[in-house]
Amino acid sequence: MKTLCIFLAIICTFTHIVHSQLELVNSWKYLDFNFKSEQDRTKYINQQHYKNCFIAGIKLDSKGDIYVSVPRWKPNVPATLAKISNGQLHAFPSWDMNDVSNSTNGIRSVLGFEIDAKDRMWILDQGRVVDTPGNPTLTVWDLKTQHLVYRHVFDESIAPIETAFLNDIVVNADANIAYISDSGIPISGSKQSPRPGIISINIQSNKAKRHLDNHASTQANLEVWPVVNGKKCFRNEPMKTGADGIALSCDGNKLYWTPLTSRRLYGIKTSVLHSDDPEVEKNVVDLGDKSSISDGLIASNKGDMYITALEQNAIYHVSEKQIGPYVEQNAKGTEKLLSMSLLTNDTELLWPDTLALKDGYLYSTSNNLCSFLGGELDWNAQNFKIHKIKLVNSPNSYVFGCDMGATDDFRAVKIALICCAVSLFVLSMVIVVIIALRKTNKKTRYSEI
Ligand SMILES: *[C@@H]1O[C@H](CO)[C@@H](O)[C@H](O)[C@H]1NC(C)=O
Ligand SMILES: *[C@@H]1O[C@H](CO)[C@@H](O)[C@H](O)[C@H]1NC(C)=O
Repeated sequence: MKTLCIFLAIICTFTHIVHSQLELVNSWKYLDFNFKSEQDRTKYINQQHYKNCFIAGIKLDSKGDIYVSVPRWKPNVPATLAKISNGQLHAFPSWDMNDVSNSTNGIRSVLGFEIDAKDRMWILDQGRVVDTPGNPTLTVWDLKTQHLVYRHVFDESIAPIETAFLNDIVVNADANIAYISDSGIPISGSKQSPRPGIISINIQSNKAKRHLDNHASTQANLEVWPVVNGKKCFRNEPMKTGADGIALSCDGNKLYWTPLTSRRLYGIKTSVLHSDDPEVEKNVVDLGDKSSISDGLIASNKGDMYITALEQNAIYHVSEKQIGPYVEQNAKGTEKLLSMSLLTNDTELLWPDTLALKDGYLYSTSNNLCSFLGGELDWNAQNFKIHKIKLVNSPNSYVFGCDMGATDDFRAVKIALICCAVSLFVLSMVIVVIIALRKTNKKTRYSEI
């Protein structure tokens, strides 16, 4: 009986895992906006400006509304931040604020953004538009009141205008702090060398700080030439992109990042970044090889982390609870291979760019970025997609703080027990029915005699 129960429990748990499949939320051949006039739309289509637009960042607010970013890396992108409604991108917060010429309070080119537990959107503006330099800024916009609550223009010493490529942002809203990855890509025509790093900013004291400036852990590894969907990205030379994906543990104590052109994951205690320690880099922990380059990372409120794997059309799960102590104890030479488990792999996940977590679902944008930047997209295909995938332990974003109440193991045991009880019930019903049938059979046979 015990063996039977274990067997049934294993089958139940397995079906439970298999059930976490990709669900398509939105899909576009090319992006469609809520243009102010039909004339604007006609121009966008006829002049093929749509070929300059792709989705990158994704986050959801408390109501479940989805927002995406459309970086202005090519000219004539109508809006750089948008809310999705009926499959259309609605310029957000407004068309005025998306006006590139609006230098007062406008946003020029957004890649990374975050929405905190108080429904405030932290908008990271890269500043530069195509090859035109511009100051990177951080704008905090309250989604509840639809008002600007904070704006900061980064200083040259924090985000050098010729090299700063502010990529992604994570926030510890209780501490009023944001951490930003700077990929450090010189603007075209600049004689500067790549200069990646990590930036932190306190929106209460209005002070920003640059960390790990050009440190090995934030730099591109030039030996890595990523292979995406069976092809080298790009054809002539690999991209040289530094610090990119960034994640913060739900307790706000550990920061993780990975350069895009690298297969390694790094971490550091956030307390070190806020100290006056002159040797911050001594606290960087190399957490090992991810076996793929990654773009977006995200931590959950349950002590897990999800990592995109661009070379495998995949998303992996890593236990943040497990790797966190290495970072806290500043363990050197931890592991050669990061311990990960495959959450999902599917050719649908063509360059899974950014991840978001909302009410038990992991969301991702796929944008086939390598082909988009290489000018190789087939504009008759479904190029840009948003997927969601149901996660077993119903996590939410790290921005809500930790909620470790029921551990994964406890949940697994609970699921197994329920499955076992249900299976036993079904089994006993089957036995009862069989006995009943036999009895009627016997009766029939006696009457035959
Ligand atoms: C710039 O953006 C602000 C919103 O913060 C808006 O009130 C203003 O009208 C915009 N200006 C222009 C010239 O579009
Ligand atoms: C998913 O991963 C498995 C195991 O590595 C592999 O056999 C399979 O081909 C992959 N599927 C896709 C679509 O990449």
